[in-house]
Amino acid sequence: MTAPSLHPDPWRDVDAQPDPVQLATSLELRARTASHARLRRRFLRFVPIRPGDVVLEVGCGTGAVTRDLAALVGRRGSVVGVDPSRVILGEARKLSRSVGGGRITLRQADGAHLPFADGRFDVALAITVILHVADPLRVVREMARVVRRGGGVGLQDQDFGLVAVTHPDRALTELILKEVASRIYAEPYSGRRLPGLLRDAGLERVRLLTDVYQDTTLEPWTKTFLERRAEHAVKFGIVDASTAQRWLDGFTGLVARGAFVLTMNYYGAVGVTP
Ligand SMILES: C[S@@+](CC[C@H](N)C(=O)[O-])C[C@H]1O[C@@H](n2cnc3c(N)ncnc32)[C@H](O)[C@@H]1O
Repeated sequence: MTAPSLHPDPWRDVDAQPDPVQLATSLELRARTASHARLRRRFLRFVPIRPGDVVLEVGCGTGAVTRDLAALVGRRGSVVGVDPSRVILGEARKLSRSVGGGRITLRQADGAHLPFADGRFDVALAITVILHVADPLRVVREMARVVRRGGGVGLQDQDFGLVAVTHPDRALTELILKEVASRIYAEPYSGRRLPGLLRDAGLERVRLLTDVYQDTTLEPWTKTFLERRAEHAVKFGIVDASTAQRWLDGFTGLVARGAFVLTMNYYGAVGVTP
């Protein structure tokens, strides 16, 4: 009997990956990158999250957003983070132990089947999760179900159709970024589709915040992102190993002369339950 083949998107099933802890590490790396921390906080202000709110975070990962949420809801509020990955939740538990003053609860659950009563939360959020789920509309409908009338459902995702990066070989860069993203993700342009998704799930007064991740120094998270794209390009047969290495070396030269730029669009969309 052959083992079932893994989905190319590792976030679909973190615990089935050869090294799930490495994925957890990459999430914390991203969370600590200054540009990313800024866009996460801008989105939470845009939602907005208020003191006293009871908030659900679907796909909480290692809890970078959950910990920010615990600070925003204050002593009268609380935050529940759910994630299907046992490994990721283990990391989240360690990292949230000394923060949040007991306001954070973490549970293993899938966004498509939330183990909560209707109307239990003021706000439900999913940050860079919708891109990875098999049935985005089902997850957003579940989020809307567990939010009280007049509460908020907020989604934020990157959009892999809008990654701009400097490189001496523009055609090779476009080939690798476009082809790899289209083979990993069911919907690589997820970000721009979030407002429509909220409306399809029955949410009202939908608003959109467009934001940009920006890096000019090849931060550790950006470096890992580009290395993973190069690895996948070889694995999917898009380029050979020496071309992938030449592509990565091209970035190093740009960084050395202060000419490196990578930007990636992020879209945040929020709707209100009717
Ligand atoms: C890229 S991480 C984002 C984590 C966190 N929201 C953050 O921004 O740091 C995506 C997370 O979604 C989780 N995930 C994947 N499929 C899911 C599903 N069907 N329901 C809920 N979460 C899911 C993964 O386990 C992973 O922790």
